[in-house]
Order: sequence, then structure tokens, then C-alpha cells
Amino acid sequence: MEIILSLFVVAHFIGLAAIVGPFLLQMRKNGDFAITAVLAGAITQLVTGVALTGLAEAVDYDLDYPKIITKLVIAIIVFVAAFLGWRKARAGSNDRSIKPFFHAAGGLAVVNIILAVFW
Ligand code: HEM
Repeated sequence: MEIILSLFVVAHFIGLAAIVGPFLLQMRKNGDFAITAVLAGAITQLVTGVALTGLAEAVDYDLDYPKIITKLVIAIIVFVAAFLGWRKARAGSNDRSIKPFFHAAGGLAVVNIILAVFW
């Protein structure tokens, strides 16, 4: 069980990188946002986060549930922002209208990292 938990932690970090990597690289840009990678990362964070919560419960880890719920709410907003941005990109909308969604997803993922580490 411990090894599975560790594998999900690895996936959780990869999902985090898929959101925050493009955000840091492209936050000063005005177009060509890697919004598909951000969306994939947002989905990964939701799936691996929920799995980690279940697995941690199974191996009797003490989880801070107010922290987990707060992270879940923020991760859902990250997902919605990434999804709306991705949908706009697919519909061929101009880059300016995608930028706020890209920034919201990236910025809130950074907030979740800070919560994960300091709370
Ligand atoms: C954008 C979304 C997210 C980011 C950036 C993120 C970030 C992180 C980070 C950096 C850690 C490692 C913390 C440490 O070991 O000190 C972590 C651990 C963890 N995350 Fe997330 N997370 C996200 C979403 C979620 C969601 C949605 C859930 C659950 C519903 C979740 C549940 C957990 C759990 C259970 C752990 C391991 C136990 C703990 O340290 O609290 N995460 N996350």
C-alpha cells in the first residue's frame, strides 16, 4: 500500500508541474498558451489528490481535512479555469481572452502548493 501511495505522490507532483511549468514559462506572454497541458495537470491533480486522500486513510495517515477540502475547492476552480480556457482555445478565440483563465489556473495552483506545504 505504501508503494502505491508513493506512486500517487509522484503523479501528484507531475500534475503540479504540468500546471505550474507552463504558467511560469508563459505568464509574461500574450499568446500560444500551453492550456492543454494545464488542463491535463488540473485533471491529474483532482484524480491523484482524491486517490491520495483515500490511500492515506487506508494506511492510517492523519490527514488535516479542512486543509484537504480547501485544496479540493481550489483544485476544482483550477480545473474549471483550465477547462474554460482550453474550450476557448479550441473554438479559436483570441489569445487575450484565454490569458485570464491561464493565469487563474496557474496562480491558484501556486496557492495550493503554499497551502499544501505551510498548512
Ligand atoms: C492544483 C492542485 C493541487 C496542488 C498544486 C497540490 C499540491 C500538493 C503538494 C505540493 C503536496 C506535497 C505536500 C507535502 O508533502 O508537504 C501535496 C500532497 C497532498 N495532496 Fe495535493 N495538491 C493539489 C490538489 C489536491 C487535491 C484536489 C487533493 C484532495 C482532494 C489533494 C490531496 C493531497 C494529499 C492527501 C496529499 C498528501 C498528504 C499531505 O501532505 O497533506 N491535493 N499536494
